[in-house]
Amino acid sequence: MSASKHIVVLPGDGIGPEITNQSLRVLDAVSKKFGHDFQYSFGLIGADAIDKTGDPLPQQTIDLCKNADAILFGAVGDPKYDQDHHAHIRPEQGLMRIRRELGLFANIRHIVSHPSVSHLSPVRPDLLEGVNIVIFRELTGGLYMGERHVSEDGKTATDTSTYTEQEINRIATYAFQLAQKRKRRVTLIDRANVLETSRLWRRSVHSMSSSYPEVELEFMYVDTAASQLITNPSRFDVILTENLFGDILSHEAAVLSGSPALIPSASIGNNTAFFEPIHGSYSAAKGKDIANPLGSILSAAGMLEYLELYAESAAIKHAVKWTLENGFVTKDIDPINFYFTSTIGEMISDRILQASSDPLIWENILMRKSTII
Ligand code: IPM
Ligand code: MG
Repeated sequence: MSASKHIVVLPGDGIGPEITNQSLRVLDAVSKKFGHDFQYSFGLIGADAIDKTGDPLPQQTIDLCKNADAILFGAVGDPKYDQDHHAHIRPEQGLMRIRRELGLFANIRHIVSHPSVSHLSPVRPDLLEGVNIVIFRELTGGLYMGERHVSEDGKTATDTSTYTEQEINRIATYAFQLAQKRKRRVTLIDRANVLETSRLWRRSVHSMSSSYPEVELEFMYVDTAASQLITNPSRFDVILTENLFGDILSHEAAVLSGSPALIPSASIGNNTAFFEPIHGSYSAAKGKDIANPLGSILSAAGMLEYLELYAESAAIKHAVKWTLENGFVTKDIDPINFYFTSTIGEMISDRILQASSDPLIWENILMRKSTII
């Protein structure tokens, strides 16, 4: 059955626009193959929005997103702000505000190792066997979202972390529900021997766990979790944690896979959802057509799943797997025999439009290789 969807696209900064363009190309191939109608609207966010409007999240972007079926986001960040420790307006504020405006409370990052890139992982191959972790990071509370203050003399600064039981239960429900379909273990990561908010997390999640008797709940301190992720990553199944710990641990876990550039993520709210690669804006590569578009393309696949277009999502994932297995990869994965960002996008789109049983036409494929262009 053909579907009509309104997708808001926020390309953002750095490599955001070029990787997002490849996702759009892939989505166009999907809509053509499956007969859907995807309408796109584009919005400003991040440094790009500051340059054009003075605001990292203009009201127009918020209004667009509130009316979308789903949102596809690239990245925000610009070195000129990273180097300016006095800047009050920052690109990242755009992302934090859109999370708040849309009530995107659960950020979900699924870490699996792709065999074709696992040799790039800094962790020993025997430790990586069977790694398959889903991280639920709470996104609307904690230090990231709390009130901040700097004293008048600029010599004292304060950030605050607040959580409510309702916020904790809201995301914990999702973690338990997913755990039921997986290995039935949830690890709550916190600092309950130090932080009051962590103790609230433990009490709330513990009392909720009685509704899911078949799911084992374990508690782990964040420092232990940071080392276990490297020394024994396959012990984890579903991780549930607050905003800042989830940020740090998900970036750590992404390295296990061999290439964080391949990891997509979804941020879920009550009325909409937001899809983005977990990597940042990588400004040094901007405009060079060398960035890896797979994190964004796989985020687009996640978006289709959210829109209940399952066969369409699977078609993207198969085509991505096909590129990886055949060594059609960007420079970050193979610095010698690499393909450009746009070539990878084109190959994936072509693959989706072809019957997957078609043989490879090596001559045509080799023509696209960066080293002989
Ligand atoms: C991420 C990003 C953001 C975050 C930044 C850009 C604010 O690193 O989605 O992990 O840490 O929330
Ligand atoms: Mg982060």
